[in-house]
Amino acid sequence: MKIEKLKTICVVGAGNMGHQIALCGALAGYQVTCTDISQDMLNKAEAFARSYLPERVAKGKLTQEQADTAFTNLRFTPSLEEAAGAADFVIEAAVEKINIKRKLFADLDRIAPPHAILATNSSYIVSSQIADVTTRPDKICNMHFFNPALVMKLVEVVQGPHTSEETAQVTMDLCAKLGKTAVLLKKEIYGFLVNRILSALAQEALFLADMGIATPAEIDLAVTNALGHPMGPFRLMDLTGIDLSYYSAMERYQSTRNPKDKPSPLVVEKFTKGEWGKKTKKGYYTYE
Ligand code: 3HC
Repeated sequence: MKIEKLKTICVVGAGNMGHQIALCGALAGYQVTCTDISQDMLNKAEAFARSYLPERVAKGKLTQEQADTAFTNLRFTPSLEEAAGAADFVIEAAVEKINIKRKLFADLDRIAPPHAILATNSSYIVSSQIADVTTRPDKICNMHFFNPALVMKLVEVVQGPHTSEETAQVTMDLCAKLGKTAVLLKKEIYGFLVNRILSALAQEALFLADMGIATPAEIDLAVTNALGHPMGPFRLMDLTGIDLSYYSAMERYQSTRNPKDKPSPLVVEKFTKGEWGKKTKKGYYTYE
């Protein structure tokens, strides 16, 4: 498939990442269908689009016509069949659990047209851990966006040993069409580039907080003012989701059995209390 043939995109998962990835596609002129098992998440994603697009018009960042077109390009449905049945490109942005992703990709392989590329937005899991459940491993790759996906420019594309050159190229071309800067990794590595670097920072920040050396707010203050990061590691975990920090550490620990990969006590505490960050209105900080 050539990029010119790509017209329809299916985004699986309407959560933190999916709802904004879907909007990126719609704004770039693609027909996008976003699907989720939760009708509530779909409703929230649609409500976000309904408020975000007029805000962009009011800010002078979009014309009314661009906003209207983007909204018409966007559909929401709980049916995976309806969302993926005619898709040229699928971006899976479901929960960070390997077994759920493997089941989803087996379903997508059955439902999506044979030419469709199936990409995962997984934060850490390389696509070779998923590709073997499909009959089209050459059309499987990682396409990793950053939160908030409408704002952050980078996308990491990872070409596994099973991924064809054509799939990698179309995925890179799609990133360009979405207005993103893409980096192509030709070797798979858990966590890719950015999340490996970010988790080294987060791990140290959590260690300092767990040891009672400084509070999350003090550590964030230090990092933002000393390193110029727009957010400190704790506010960033609130944005990306403490549930994601927990699940990804657990996935890693289960594969390495290395105790240092276990989620930190503070992450376990927040996860257990359901204080997952911005999405639950409370994490390391409280949100209105
Ligand atoms: N959704 C969409 N747009 C948003 C947004 C959101 N949640 N939050 C902010 N924006 C937009 C605003 O509309 C504004 O757009 P404009 O300049 O075109 O008008 C712009 O971003 C700046 O917004 P604000 O002035 O309100 O706020 P800030 O200047 O504080 O920026 C931020 C907010 C963009 C989130 C900034 O703090 C930032 O860049 N933080 C770091 C984010 C980051 O590191 N992301 C990567 C996380 S790692 C990851 O995602 C990996 C994954 O696997 C988990």
